[in-house]
Amino acid sequence: MTQSLTLRRPDDWHLHLRDGAMLKAVLPESARHFARAIIMPNLVPPVVTSADAAAYRDRIMAALPEGMAFRPLMTLYLTEETDPADVRAAHASGLITAVKLYPAGATTNSASGVRDFEKIRGVLDCMAEIGLPLCTHGEVTAPEVDIFDREAVFIDKVLDPIRRAHPGLRVVMEHITTSDAVDYVTDADENLGATITTHHLVINRNHLLVGGIRPHYYCLPVAKRATHQRALVKAATSGAARFFLGTDSAPHVDALKEHACGCAGCFTATNTMSVLAEVFERENALDRLEAFTSLNGPAYYFLAPNEETITLTRGDPVTYPAKIEGGDGPVTVFDPGFPLHWRVDA
Ligand code: DOR
Ligand code: ZN
Repeated sequence: MTQSLTLRRPDDWHLHLRDGAMLKAVLPESARHFARAIIMPNLVPPVVTSADAAAYRDRIMAALPEGMAFRPLMTLYLTEETDPADVRAAHASGLITAVKLYPAGATTNSASGVRDFEKIRGVLDCMAEIGLPLCTHGEVTAPEVDIFDREAVFIDKVLDPIRRAHPGLRVVMEHITTSDAVDYVTDADENLGATITTHHLVINRNHLLVGGIRPHYYCLPVAKRATHQRALVKAATSGAARFFLGTDSAPHVDALKEHACGCAGCFTATNTMSVLAEVFERENALDRLEAFTSLNGPAYYFLAPNEETITLTRGDPVTYPAKIEGGDGPVTVFDPGFPLHWRVDA
């Protein structure tokens, strides 16, 4: 059995770092193992303009502890007022790596997102022309659509029409949760990629709801039934180039998770690599872990993979802190519900 595994240093293609005290608390948790991350712009207020993104990037770099290396890959939060010229300039200067589409009301801090998709056609045309990827929170928000169907309906009603109307637009379906999404990506051309989170590989809706509600497993898109989880595990461990890791690590203080109306988000930055090694080992796919965490993402974004490496070593179960201090209170670290045998030496 493999006892030690050296990988190119991984990147996280979907990460929430927040701001202020929370940013300071969670950034080292990602920077310890990850070289780069696509930084989500759903702050309050959101990161909408290139000036917002430049200021946020500077706050991230200022929060990075001495001696740690990390490159934030910035995104803009797409609104119906986004100016294509600002997007073009932000891309040309190297400031941004993608633009993020939140359908209005889909998730945490998405109120300024898009309601009328007609209004973003100009920006999408510009992005198709310059090759700038659109990262999508792929769920419809219509109240009559069941929450477990929102991703599949998004593919049919929103994503597919957008991709037909803007041929050549590069799109990343983020945090996919269904076999419908796996199939859609598999059948599409190379302009379409998808990220898969750590937690959606580990939990299905039974973990969330059986035997009592587990608020720390509540995230969006919500975990689906086990057959969908299985399809995600198969896609992630297949090595197929258009599936890559985006943790969607999304810290909320415990008081807001353990609440009558709890926030969505699993905080996985701390133990993601150990959890993934366990998942891939069970699938006999440790030789494809590097593709998922370190090679496929850079290839999609036309970036070189990292030169540095990390080494994972198998041994007695490793432990991680159950919580980290988030500034305004504790943040619970994702509990996969099984022992972790892979230690990460970064
Ligand atoms: O679970 C989630 N948490 N899903 C999202 O889409 C947003 C995120 C957050 O920002 O908390
Ligand atoms: Zn997210």
